[in-house]
Amino acid sequence: MNVESTDVLIIGSGIAGLMTAECLRSHKNVTIITKSSFQNSNSYHAQGGIAAVTEKEDHWAEHFIDTVKAGSFHNEETLTEILVKEGPDMIRTMEDWKVPFDRNKDGSLTLGREGGHRRARIVHAGGDRTGSKIVDVLYQRISHHITVQEFEIAGDLIIKQGKCVGAWTKNANGEVTVYFAASVILASGGAAGLYNVNSNDKSITGDSIALAFRAGAVLSDLEFIQFHPTMLFTNGESFGLVSEAVRGEGGTLVTSEGASVMSGVHEMGDLAPRDIVSRTIFEYIQKGYEIFLDVSKVKSFTNRFPAITAICRNAGIVLNEGRIPVAPGAHFTMGGAVTNQWGETTVPHLYAVGEASRTGVHGANRLASNSLLESVVFAKRTAARIMALKEHEASLFPVEWEYTEQQKRRWPEKQEIQRQMTQYAGIVRTREGLGEAIRWFENFSIEKPDYHCKPDEIERINMLQTGWLIVTSAHLRTESRGGHYRSDFPSNDDNCWLKKQVYRKKDQNE
Ligand code: SIN
Repeated sequence: MNVESTDVLIIGSGIAGLMTAECLRSHKNVTIITKSSFQNSNSYHAQGGIAAVTEKEDHWAEHFIDTVKAGSFHNEETLTEILVKEGPDMIRTMEDWKVPFDRNKDGSLTLGREGGHRRARIVHAGGDRTGSKIVDVLYQRISHHITVQEFEIAGDLIIKQGKCVGAWTKNANGEVTVYFAASVILASGGAAGLYNVNSNDKSITGDSIALAFRAGAVLSDLEFIQFHPTMLFTNGESFGLVSEAVRGEGGTLVTSEGASVMSGVHEMGDLAPRDIVSRTIFEYIQKGYEIFLDVSKVKSFTNRFPAITAICRNAGIVLNEGRIPVAPGAHFTMGGAVTNQWGETTVPHLYAVGEASRTGVHGANRLASNSLLESVVFAKRTAARIMALKEHEASLFPVEWEYTEQQKRRWPEKQEIQRQMTQYAGIVRTREGLGEAIRWFENFSIEKPDYHCKPDEIERINMLQTGWLIVTSAHLRTESRGGHYRSDFPSNDDNCWLKKQVYRKKDQNE
C-alpha cells in the first residue's frame, strides 16, 4: 500500500474538478485522481455550452426566472441567484484564458438558444464541442503544476472523528494508495449512467453519491433525474446526444408522418423544458410511434454541429434526408451531496462540486446549459473557501482500520442494475414499480468496498448504493415535479411533506 499526503484531493477530472484545481494550484498542493482518462468525463462530451448573461439586452433576473421555472420552483433561491450573477464573470475569465468561444464577425460572442430559455444566451465553442474546448484549456493550465492520477478509482473516503481526512484508491494494476488530505473534493459527476439509455460517459456510475453517502454526508433530491429528449436512437441502439441547440437553431420534433410532436403541449413548443419534452416523446414511443428531429431548416448543420454530424455518420444516418431518429435518455442528476454556497458538504473538510453536488440551483429539473455554469461558478467558490482555511497540513493518521477479505459476494452486473433503473425509476414511475426496485436492490449486500475489491466491483457497489438511494427517494416523493414523474401522483403537490428530502446514513449507534 502506498501512502501519500496532499493539501487537496480532488476526485474526478471534469470541468468542476479541473476548474477547482486551476483556482487552487498557486496556493495549494493539489492531487486529482480520476478513474479513467481525463478525457472520459461528461464535461468533455458536453455539446450545448454555458448559459450566461453576456448581452446588455439580457438580465440576470431573466436567467434566474428561466432557471427556477425549468426547476419547477424547487430551486434554492440564494444559490441560484449566485449562479446567474457570477456566471458572466466566469465567462470573462475563460475568455482571458483563451477558451476559443465561437464569435460573430464583429467579435461578439455567438449565442445559441436551448430549451427553457426565453432568449439566446448560450455561449459555445467549436460549434458543439464546448466541453472539450474548455477541458483542453484547463488541462493545459494545470497539468504542469499538479498531479493528475488517471485510471485510479476512489474506494472510500477516510473519516476520522467525524471529519474527512482523505481517501483510499485502487489503480488499474490493483495497487492501493491512501491519500491523506486537508480537504477532499467530490467531483466525479452524477448517476445518469445507471440507466441503459444515457448520454453520459461510460465512467459515470454514481461514485461521488455513494462515497458521500458512506461518509455520512447529507444527500438530497436524488429522485430528480433529467432525461434528455434527443438521444440519437436507431435499431434499438443509442449513439449519443443530439444537442438541444439543434432545436434552438430551428430543429423540430416530428412523427414519421411529419406531424409536430410539441405543438399544443407547451407555450415554448420544441424548446419547452426537458422534462416536458422527454415525457411527451416517451408517451408517443409507448404508443408505437417513431420520433424524429427534423433538421431540414437548420442552416449550415455540419459546420455548426461537427460532433453531432460525426455521431450521425457513425450511426449510418444520412443527414441530407433531414431527419434524425431520437428517443429520450438519462442525462443529468439534479440531486447529490448537499452543499452550501462554498461547496461544503455536511461532513467537515469534504466538499462537492459540479453534478456530484446538490447546490439546489437546478431545482427539480436543470435548465439547459446551466451545468457547466454551476461547475465553474461553484468551483471558484469552493477553491476560495479552501484557500481561506487556516489549516494547511493534511493530518497523517495511522492507517488503522481493520479489513478482512469479504466472502465472495454476488454483485449484479452493471447492465442488470441499468435494466432495473430504466424499468422502474425511468421517465414514468409508480409506487408498485419503485417498491419492486427497492426489493431488488435490497437482495444484495450493499456494503462498503474493501481493499480487495477490483475497480469494477467498487463501481458496482457504488451503482447499487446510488440506485437504491434514487429508487427509495422516488418512492417517498408522492407527487410529480420536474425530473420525477409518478403516474399515481401526476400533479405537483406544494404541501408534499417531502418537498426537500434529505438522506443521511445512520450511525451505527443511532
Ligand atoms: C445539450 O446540448 O442539449 C445538452 C447540454 C445540457 O445538458 O445543458
